[in-house]
Amino acid sequence: MAWKRLKDLDISGSRVLMRVDFNVPLNYSGEIADDTRIRSALPSIEHIVGSGASLVLMSHLGRPGGKKDPSLSMEVVAHKLGELTDYPVKFVDACVGEKVQKEVSDLKPGEMLLLENLRFYPGEKSNNPEFATRLAEWGDIYVNDAFGTAHRAHASTVGAPLHFSKKGAGFLLEKELSVLGSLLKDPERPFVAVLGGVKISGKIKLIENLINVVDRIIIGGAMAFTFFRAAGLETGNSIVDEQYLRMCRKLLDIRDSSGEKKIILPVDCVVADQVEGYSEFRTVSAGDIPEEWVGVDIGEKSVRIFADEISGAGTIFWNGPMGIFENEDFAEGTRGVARAIAGSDARKVVGGGDSVSALQAMHLAESIDHISTGGGASLTMLEGSVLPAVEALSE
Ligand code: 3PG
Repeated sequence: MAWKRLKDLDISGSRVLMRVDFNVPLNYSGEIADDTRIRSALPSIEHIVGSGASLVLMSHLGRPGGKKDPSLSMEVVAHKLGELTDYPVKFVDACVGEKVQKEVSDLKPGEMLLLENLRFYPGEKSNNPEFATRLAEWGDIYVNDAFGTAHRAHASTVGAPLHFSKKGAGFLLEKELSVLGSLLKDPERPFVAVLGGVKISGKIKLIENLINVVDRIIIGGAMAFTFFRAAGLETGNSIVDEQYLRMCRKLLDIRDSSGEKKIILPVDCVVADQVEGYSEFRTVSAGDIPEEWVGVDIGEKSVRIFADEISGAGTIFWNGPMGIFENEDFAEGTRGVARAIAGSDARKVVGGGDSVSALQAMHLAESIDHISTGGGASLTMLEGSVLPAVEALSE
């Protein structure tokens, strides 16, 4: 897929319309809990305004469902952006219409304007052609730097760029595509993927694709119990997705050239008598989960086996916790794996979401080579699927 890089676009004196992913987490009082996504877009933002262009920024925040929701206004993001950059930042509480037209016309080179939450308009998610056309009026050049939203075919990511002949990928998008693309193309071996999380449905395509690329896939989290059942083990009341049993059986049989199974499952797990309001929990061997009990974490032996595999890796990709790590009693599996990954000499890539929260809580994020700003987008890419927003940049 051929697309231009922001660096190669002649932007001086132009008005650039850039899609960013400022979908940042907010705390209970509506303040930004983590500004990583805003900081990550700064190199592109400052390059554009620093090159004598004016910049119109657009993003979504949360899932307001096509309606105005004051608690999800971009205004708080505009303030934060103003604190993070020395360039002037303006905000307008709409995405289309006369008010925006006026602000955009008044914008001078070196200034930027952040539009209101795109998802206040139903036309954003439905990729409504009219909404996309109206957004496209705000620039002569289109740039996408929103890797986190690259798997969504929305008006701002797919409809609007079709109106531009001059368009390209911002620095963040370019970097994410390059790092994640290199995992699939030329990983340092052994390549070990560590996958966890609850739902197997969201990861099955990823496992099907990665199993052809990696040397080992370590499986933890509630997802492991569907594999346990597929292998004929007792799972008690643990979450099992019956629909995927056949597929899991097939995957468990896949071996490398030396005859070793590519998928490694936990050998023990922490079980509780129930998840909410449990009165007892203990570690049991895989296959010995008592009836009515629920698997909530991987056990110590599994952590040791996984850590051993991780320590010998040349490349590691991690997505998803090993258990219900928000609960102290069930966090040790995720912590052990996080420690092993952080301590390894491999090239380490982490795919967003809960794994990043776990690393941050343990102050280990610094030791990771690349933390993706897109959970869903990185998984879509590693599934081998096309990212619609990247396709829309192609010439
Ligand atoms: C994300 O946080 O994964 C992206 O911003 C996309 O958000 P969405 O899942 O609401 O489309």
